[in-house]
Amino acid sequence: MTIERLRPEDARSVSDLIGSALRLSCKGDYPERVLEALAGKHTPQYILERANCTHFYVAREDGAVVGCGAVAPHPGRENACALTTVFVRPDCQGRGIGRRILSVLERDEFALSSNRIVLRASITGLAFYRKLGYRFAGGNETPDDDGLYGLEKLLPGGYPLLGLIADRHSYRGAYRPEPVPREHLRAILEAGLAAPSGCNKQTVSLIAVDEPELLQKLRAVIDPPVGETAPAVICVLSRHINAYRDRCFAVQDYAAAIENMLLAIVSLGYQSCWYEGHITDADRIGEKMARILGVPEDFELVCFLPVGIAESKPVPPKKKPFEERAWFNGYGRR
Ligand SMILES: Cc1cc2nc3c(=O)[nH]c(=O)nc-3n(C[C@H](O)[C@H](O)[C@H](O)COP(=O)(O)O)c2cc1C
Repeated sequence: MTIERLRPEDARSVSDLIGSALRLSCKGDYPERVLEALAGKHTPQYILERANCTHFYVAREDGAVVGCGAVAPHPGRENACALTTVFVRPDCQGRGIGRRILSVLERDEFALSSNRIVLRASITGLAFYRKLGYRFAGGNETPDDDGLYGLEKLLPGGYPLLGLIADRHSYRGAYRPEPVPREHLRAILEAGLAAPSGCNKQTVSLIAVDEPELLQKLRAVIDPPVGETAPAVICVLSRHINAYRDRCFAVQDYAAAIENMLLAIVSLGYQSCWYEGHITDADRIGEKMARILGVPEDFELVCFLPVGIAESKPVPPKKKPFEERAWFNGYGRR
C-alpha cells in the first residue's frame, strides 16, 4: 500500500469512497438524511477544494483508492493542526489502513510544526482515535451539535527549538481541569534531570504532584495563592553540595533544570510559571511544602512549577531590545 498526496484524478474515487464509508460504516450511528447530506457534500469538486487548503493524502492498493485523510493548520489555535476527512473504504476496514493514514498525517510538516493535533471524531470513529492516543479536548466527553466528539493529541517534540524558546512565557492565568498524563509529567521531569550541573554533582531532585488531595494540601500553604487551578505541580528540590573546594553550583543547577522543564512543558502543549518568590524567603513556604511531601532535611524546596493546559494565552512581557543587552566582540559595540 502507498500513501501519497492526492492527485486531481483521484478526486472522483475519493468522493465515491467517502460516500460509501458514510452510508455503510456510519449507518446506525447517524440518521440517514444526515449521512446523505454529508455524502452529497463530498463531491469531487469539494475534495479538490479541500486539497487546496490542506495536505490531502490518499492510500492506494493495487492502484485503487482504499483510504484518505487530510491535515491542515488549525485556524484560530496557534501551534495546533487539525485532521479532517479520514475515511477507509468499508470493505478494507480492520486491516490497519486507518492507522497507517494517521501515522502519515501525524508526520506531515503541519503536524511536525504543531504541538497539538485536534479533530472531530464521529461516533463510528471514536474508539479508533481513542486507541491511537487521542483524548477528549477539554475533557468534554459529550458530542457537539453535529454529533461529533472534539478530540486532541499532544505532540511532544513537534516544536522547532528556537520557536519554542521564543514562545515560552510565564503563564499566571487559570488552568483547565484535565489531568496531565503521567507520561507527560515523566517527560518533563526527565528534561529537568537532563540539564547540565556544575561538576555533574546533580544537586537537583524533583517531585511531580498530581494527586488532588496532595495538591489541595500544597495549595493551603501557598500564600498568596498562585497556580492554584493547575492539575499538576512540579516541586524543585536543591541540595547544597560543593562542586569543588567551597564552590557550590546548586543555584545554577536548579536554574538550568527549571528552564529545561519550562521548555518541555510548553513543547507538550502546557503552560507554567517559575514560582520562587515567597518560597524560600521569610515566608518559608518551601519548608511547609517540603514537609507535606516528606522531603528529607538536606534538601531545600526552592521553586514549584504548575503544569496544565492554559485557559488563556500567556501575556508576553516587554523585553529590552537585543541591542541593549547583547553585542558582538565587546560591550556596547554595534
Ligand atoms: C528566579 C526566578 C524566580 C521567579 N519567581 C516568580 C514568582 O515567584 N512569581 C511569578 O509570578 N513569577 C516568577 N518568575 C517569573 C518571572 O517573573 C518571569 O520570568 C519574568 O517576568 C519574565 O517573563 P517571561 O518568563 O514570560 O519571559 C521567576 C523567575 C525567575 C527566573
